[in-house]
Amino acid sequence: MNFLELLKKPDLIAAHRGDRSQKPENTLSALASSIGKCDFIEIDVQLTKDLVPVIIHDETLNRTSNVSNIQRFKDRTPWIVSDFTLKELQSLDFGSWFNSEYESILTLEKALSFVKENHLFLNVEIKDMSKTFSDEIVVEIIIDMIKKTQTEHLVLLSSFYHHYLPMCKKLSSKIPTAALQLYKHPDNLINYLHTLQVNAYHPEDKIINKKTVSDLREAGFFVNVFTVNKTKRQKKLFEWDVNGVFTDSLV
Ligand code: G3P
Ligand code: MG
Repeated sequence: MNFLELLKKPDLIAAHRGDRSQKPENTLSALASSIGKCDFIEIDVQLTKDLVPVIIHDETLNRTSNVSNIQRFKDRTPWIVSDFTLKELQSLDFGSWFNSEYESILTLEKALSFVKENHLFLNVEIKDMSKTFSDEIVVEIIIDMIKKTQTEHLVLLSSFYHHYLPMCKKLSSKIPTAALQLYKHPDNLINYLHTLQVNAYHPEDKIINKKTVSDLREAGFFVNVFTVNKTKRQKKLFEWDVNGVFTDSLV
């Protein structure tokens, strides 16, 4: 089965940043902990200063690492991820802020290998790097890594920065893509999604309604909604024919 075939199954549950209610988000232990509790896992990817794709949500390191306690990084505030090399990131602890267990930074390469070994599916969300020097190259580096690990069939690529999405399709027509959206739907939503050449639309829960889901499904797009932690709301969305929901609370 590939990711597109997975999307045809009903009522999909996606582990938002891994099993983040039990383990530090976007780490290997969060991926491992979500096995058997979801249909696919979502992670966030951005590039280090030396252009290595790593798994971390925020633009800065402070919330999910011990960077603020490290003397030699004191003058590097606000600790922007893309200002740090992989080696520097590997000297930090990404677990103890959450549960006192050491956890190293997860690379995309490691995440993809893990997914392949464990027969899982992965939504790789490409963070907006338009304010950084690696903007031009981020999509190419991520897709090269997916090809290198031979995981094209296991991955779906998404981004809030829609400019990346046609680039993804151009570099690999095999990998499904999704447009993420907050606050308000783009004008002429269906046409707009066609121009992006995406397979799916990932809106935040607040902006979705039954009619929009029905229009999107009718037009052939998959719809996965974030972040939906209440079972009752998940059920309602599935009744509307939403394909999947991202959740922080796996059961
Ligand atoms: O991909 C769904 C969700 O992860 C998007 O929001 O900010 O948690 O990456 P965020
Ligand atoms: Mg995300």
